Amino acid sequence: MDFSAFRDGERDGWSSRAEIYEDATARATLQSIPTLLSHARLFPDTRVLDAGCGPGYVAAAAKLLGAEAEGIDFSKGMVEQAIARFPAIQFAVADVENLPMADGVFDAVLSNFVLFHVTDPQLAMAEARRVLKTGGRFVFSQWLGPDRSECYKLLFDIIARHADMSRADPAPDPYVLSNADQVFKMMAEAGFKDTKSEIVENILHAPGPSFFDFFMSVGVRVPLILDRQDAEVRDIIRQEVDEAAARYLVDDCYRIPMPSIVFSGVAG
Ligand SMILES: C[S@@+](CC[C@H](N)C(=O)[O-])C[C@H]1O[C@@H](n2cnc3c(N)ncnc32)[C@H](O)[C@@H]1O
Repeated sequence: MDFSAFRDGERDGWSSRAEIYEDATARATLQSIPTLLSHARLFPDTRVLDAGCGPGYVAAAAKLLGAEAEGIDFSKGMVEQAIARFPAIQFAVADVENLPMADGVFDAVLSNFVLFHVTDPQLAMAEARRVLKTGGRFVFSQWLGPDRSECYKLLFDIIARHADMSRADPAPDPYVLSNADQVFKMMAEAGFKDTKSEIVENILHAPGPSFFDFFMSVGVRVPLILDRQDAEVRDIIRQEVDEAAARYLVDDCYRIPMPSIVFSGVAG
């Protein structure tokens, strides 16, 4: 299956959202960083790669703990944001599926909500293993799917009822990595041992008035589907999403459970 159109949509979608990321996506993603760091077991001068760094929060948090951190992202807008925010850290445009680093140079590769978006997560895991020293740690986070996530259940129940999914570009199943048994097998295949997982009960803090409008600025995958629908269909989805989300609205802010899972493994 050719996922190249999906990949271009992801890269351009994140680039165009880079400036608003702090007020949108970060309202859910930042909450997993402490768990990522606890699995990474950093020590002073640990050499860390933030793979799919976005605006650079993970690299900055690792640096605060004394690590020698750097970051890469395939979205140019994100890399520009990261450089502007954290000028003391090195950031570059690169792909987690084809890292421009030599073999065996990092003590830890950290990837916060990135493999959910790549075309070939198995390849991204193999690349993480390649650039890690033996004994180094790969840690990544992933959203749990609609079976566990109130946020994704609310959205996808309504989208599945109204949207014509065949209009979206072919894309990999986003929730392959929400299944721990499946991920442990993939990590073993990529060369990781001592694999572990830990669930984080993230809460998406979304400012009102419209949860639908907010979510369209948070992620890229859902807009890539909805931008292909007729205006009337989008209007129906918007109305039903906002009605379903209303019970989460307190003091002009929706607080919707959006749990994630953090995986870690040691390069064997
Ligand atoms: C949800 S954001 C997470 C950003 C950051 N890790 C954080 O914790 O805030 C997903 C990021 O993954 C990046 N990304 C997606 N696919 C990628 C790929 N193949 N190579 C590099 N970066 C990628 C996107 O550009 C985007 O910045």
